[in-house]
Amino acid sequence: MQGPAVVAALAALGCAWPADAEAQRGRPGQQVSAQEYEGWRQYSVHCARCHGQDVLGNPVAANLRESASEGGPMAGHDAFVAVVRAGRPGRGMPAFGGVLSKEQSDAIYAYVKGRADGKIAAGRPARPSG
Ligand code: HEC
Repeated sequence: MQGPAVVAALAALGCAWPADAEAQRGRPGQQVSAQEYEGWRQYSVHCARCHGQDVLGNPVAANLRESASEGGPMAGHDAFVAVVRAGRPGRGMPAFGGVLSKEQSDAIYAYVKGRADGKIAAGRPARPSG
């Protein structure tokens, strides 16, 4: 290899290094608001086992991406949060009113609505800075 070619090859390598480091740490997650991030966390802990990881659905329970999408029965904040807090006794949906704070219920709605509207991608979002 001639001098200039070596320099070009090294420059190309240099450009690749940050991307490789990123890949080793895992793909960086999507930027979301602090509320949406908290919603993702709470959803993953309390809801995913029945409604599916990343709100992708699960035969066990309602598909919340459909429920919360435009025109769906749970598209509105109040309807969604009311079911979360009161549950549907006898139908397999537990009541979370004594488990989650109002802020946590609101955060879960923000996250699920973001998933339903196609605004938030599947996977772990980036932790908001600040
Ligand atoms: C133990 C399983 C289970 C867990 C955990 C669970 N759900 Fe449910 N959920 C259900 C089932 C089953 C239904 C459907 C009830 C019915 O047939 O009306 C449901 C229904 C719902 C509905 C109404 C959907 C619709 O279209 O009518 C919402 C909203 C909901 N769940 C939100 C949540 C949220 C948010 C969490 C976490 C805080 C959660 N659920 C945790 C089982 C669960």
